[in-house]
Amino acid sequence: MGQNDTFEEIKDRVKDGSDIVRIIGETVELKKAGARYLGLCPFHGEKTPSFSVHPGQQFFHCFGCGESGDVFSFMMKYHSLDFPAALKELARRAQIELPERTSSPAQQERDRQRVAMFAVNLEAAGLFRTCLLQSPGAARARLYLKERGIPEAIQERFQIGYAPAVEEAGWNFIGTRLKGEQLKAAEATGLLVRKEQGGSYDRFRDRIVFPLYDLRGRVVGFGGRIVGEGQPKYLNSPESLVFDKSSTLLGLFQQRDEIRTRGRVVLVEGNFDCVSLVVHGCPNVVAPLGTALTRQQLGLLKRFSDEVILLFDGDVAGVKAARRAVPLFLAEQIKGRVALLPEGHDPDTFVRELGRARLDDLLDAAVELPEFALEQLVAEHGLTLDGKSRIMEELRPLVQAAASELQRSVVIAHFSERLGVEQRQLADLLKGARSQAPVPSEVPVFRAKGREERLEPMSSVQKRLVSHMVLYPQALARLEQAGVREMVAGTMGEVLLLQLQALQAGAGEVEPEDLLAALPEGAERRYVSEVLLAASGIEDSLISEAGPEEELAEILLWLERERLQICSRQLIAEIARAERERDMGRLAVLLKQKQEVESRMRGQGPV
Ligand code: UTP
Ligand code: MN
Repeated sequence: MGQNDTFEEIKDRVKDGSDIVRIIGETVELKKAGARYLGLCPFHGEKTPSFSVHPGQQFFHCFGCGESGDVFSFMMKYHSLDFPAALKELARRAQIELPERTSSPAQQERDRQRVAMFAVNLEAAGLFRTCLLQSPGAARARLYLKERGIPEAIQERFQIGYAPAVEEAGWNFIGTRLKGEQLKAAEATGLLVRKEQGGSYDRFRDRIVFPLYDLRGRVVGFGGRIVGEGQPKYLNSPESLVFDKSSTLLGLFQQRDEIRTRGRVVLVEGNFDCVSLVVHGCPNVVAPLGTALTRQQLGLLKRFSDEVILLFDGDVAGVKAARRAVPLFLAEQIKGRVALLPEGHDPDTFVRELGRARLDDLLDAAVELPEFALEQLVAEHGLTLDGKSRIMEELRPLVQAAASELQRSVVIAHFSERLGVEQRQLADLLKGARSQAPVPSEVPVFRAKGREERLEPMSSVQKRLVSHMVLYPQALARLEQAGVREMVAGTMGEVLLLQLQALQAGAGEVEPEDLLAALPEGAERRYVSEVLLAASGIEDSLISEAGPEEELAEILLWLERERLQICSRQLIAEIARAERERDMGRLAVLLKQKQEVESRMRGQGPV
């Protein structure tokens, strides 16, 4: 396959080379029925087949649950792969060679480091696990788990382990079992903490440890709970090259099949809540790591289920957490519901004392998230005229977060009834208020002066940079420092950069959607909406499956290289002129500059 094939061409070729009936037939028993094939749907539990595969049109469809798609979506959904991984896997089976993604030396070094970090985490998980099972010092931990009702099989499923106490294993349980490069990797993952005087010691001591997995089953870090009472109750691995808290969920790797077949997932707050629910027959459960739910986590859950039920404490904090989550759900376009526990209970104590049936009742009665938020607001402000206007003020950000016009109108319809306001009127009020909102109006609107054609077209690397800037406006300051303005000068990227900066100056935190809202109708806005659309899918992730940080580093490297090349060409032209004009002084200066540029290009290595 040629290096210059477009993404679409590559994708089509792999799709054409894959036999959808054979691929799906590996996991679903299919019977021919006329032109199509029928089987039991793997995405929802069923007894009579309503899942059909159409070899001619190369797609599948389930009449039961509505799931449908092509061979890529099947691979992604069934095997929980992201698009690049599905593409790679299908290409491998079809014996189609994919163009190599060239990676910079810095990227390669990071990859190497990450591999070492995963390996050392896995090693440590094994050591902790063995320790829990065998070590005499782990007796208290074993008893504790037993008292908390976590049977062996579930301990095994979650690979729960025990990090020994100093009295038993000293300060260097992990360190003495690793050597050389492994020690460095262990420091990088935070298993070992560096001492100022040199050397290092164990982060986790006398704690029950939960390995945390990514979706590929790699150990990214650990959550460690003290055995019994004490402070801090939990100690987690620090974030690292392999551990991003905001995109990790305890239980997702272990429970994803259960989550998928049930089509809904229960989100609880604590590690023990998560494990305990699995013990008690509610296996579609996950827990974030002590932080508020993030949009990335929701994006992950969306790949496995259509609905998330927040199972939170009925106290003030629980209600607040649920309310804060509303815009995330609207933005990710995933259905959210809230079930509040009676005061004094968490999911673990609830299911243990009251049983699974009561838990199911609670979950079945969970309230839709927007409705929940509205009821909270009504309780807070009342339904007087004044109350209603306050409520509408608070609703505005919620409605704005809705990802589509359709969704917006559904939400508005919902609210209007409860508030006794005509839908049209409410929509106008929320929209009207929006145009007076501080963000868009206080900020100057940047547009290309004159006709759009006056902007220079962007190179593919510039486009990646601009996409990155649009998707991760938090990185704007860093980009500025890296001289990004110069790198996109004269292009639409510069216009967008200026607009983003203005928004940030006006409002502080800026989300990609704010940029969309601030831009007037036109090419810039179309461009941004394309970037946002593409981000939910594929092309971007094909280029890089690394995190935003790594991608950014890579883009900056490419751009620096581009800049050096331009610089080098200019110097060559000037050197030629200086030679013609026999300007020896200037020639010497130019040659020296050229040498510097060349050595910097070499220092960068091939990209
Ligand atoms: P909880 O205190 O509710 O945890 O904190 P829990 O799992 O219910 O604890 P026990 O064992 O039943 O008493 C919820 C989550 O917040 C994080 C942990 O991930 C915990 O599971 N947390 C909590 C921390 O990171 N650090 C802490 O000190 C406490
Ligand atoms: Mn608890």
